[in-house]
Amino acid sequence: MSRIAYVNGRYLAHREARVHIEDRGFQFADSVYEVCEIRDGALIDATRHLDRLERSMGELRMPAPMGRAALLVVLREVARRNLVRNGHVYLQVSRGVAPRDFPFPAGAAPTLVVTARSKNVAEAEARALKGVAVAVRPDIRWGRRDIKTTGLLANALAKQHAREHGAFEAWLVDERGFVTEGASSNAWIVTADGALVTRAADHMILRGVTRTTLFDVAAELQLRIEERPFTVEEARRAREAFMTSANSIVIPIVAIDGAKVGDGAPGPTALRLRALFHASAEATQV
Ligand code: PDD
Repeated sequence: MSRIAYVNGRYLAHREARVHIEDRGFQFADSVYEVCEIRDGALIDATRHLDRLERSMGELRMPAPMGRAALLVVLREVARRNLVRNGHVYLQVSRGVAPRDFPFPAGAAPTLVVTARSKNVAEAEARALKGVAVAVRPDIRWGRRDIKTTGLLANALAKQHAREHGAFEAWLVDERGFVTEGASSNAWIVTADGALVTRAADHMILRGVTRTTLFDVAAELQLRIEERPFTVEEARRAREAFMTSANSIVIPIVAIDGAKVGDGAPGPTALRLRALFHASAEATQV
C-alpha cells in the first residue's frame, strides 16, 4: 500500500507531497506541530493535542489553517487512508509561503501538512519492559519551549548524541544543573517515598499531553505529584526514572550517562502508569 499525505487541501501520494521553497516553515522554522498517538484505530487525547496546537498558534499569532472540527476530520482521514491502526499522526502548520523577509507576511495562507505512520507495537512493548538509557546534554534551546514549534535542531543534536552513546533519549539540563525535559519527552523521577516528580510546565519545557493525562492516572492511583526541578544526581539516586510522550507513552529509564538508576531494572511505578495510561486517556475512533 502506498502512503498518503495531506497537503493544503489535497490527499497526495506521500513520495510526491511537497511544500514550496519559500515556505516559512523551511526558511524560519515559523511553524508549529503536533504528534498524536493512534491506538487500536483511535486517536488518543486528540482534544488535548488540538488545544495545545491552538495555544501554540495563538502564542505566535499564526492564523489557523481550518477550524478544529475540520482538522479532526483530516487527522482521521489521513490515519484511515494510511490504514494506521497503531502508530502516530503528525501535523505541521506554518505561517505559509511568502518572499523571504523576517516580519510576518500580509495575507499568506497557512500551510498544513498531515501524515501518519504505523509503529511496531511489539518492539515498543519490548523497549518499555526493558527500559532505556538516557544521555545528558546541556539544554541550548530558545526560551519558549512551551510552544511546540518545528525549531527542533537542538533537540535533534541532543538525540543524535544520545544515539551515538548507546542511549535512547537525551535529558537536557539547564544552567543550574536541573533537568528540563527530554529531547522529545518529559522527564520524571519517583522518590524514595513514592512521589512522582516532574518539572513545572513554564516556558522552559513543553507541557506534554501525556504528562497532563498522567496527572489523571496518578490521581486515580493516589500517587502524589511534586512539580519541581530535579538534578541528574537526584535522578540517579531516585527509586525510578521515566519519560513520557505521545511516542513513548511511559518508558522506564534504567541508566543516566551509563550510571544505573535505582537497581538498574525498569521501575514498577512506571510500568504500572504505562499499563493504566489508556484507561484515563481520551480515545476518538478514526
Ligand atoms: N515530542 N517535550 C518535548 C521537547 C517534546 O518534543 C515532546 C513530544 C514532549 C512530550 O509531549 P507529548 O506528551 O504531548 O507527546 C515533551 C513529540 C512526540 C515529537 O516531537 O515527536
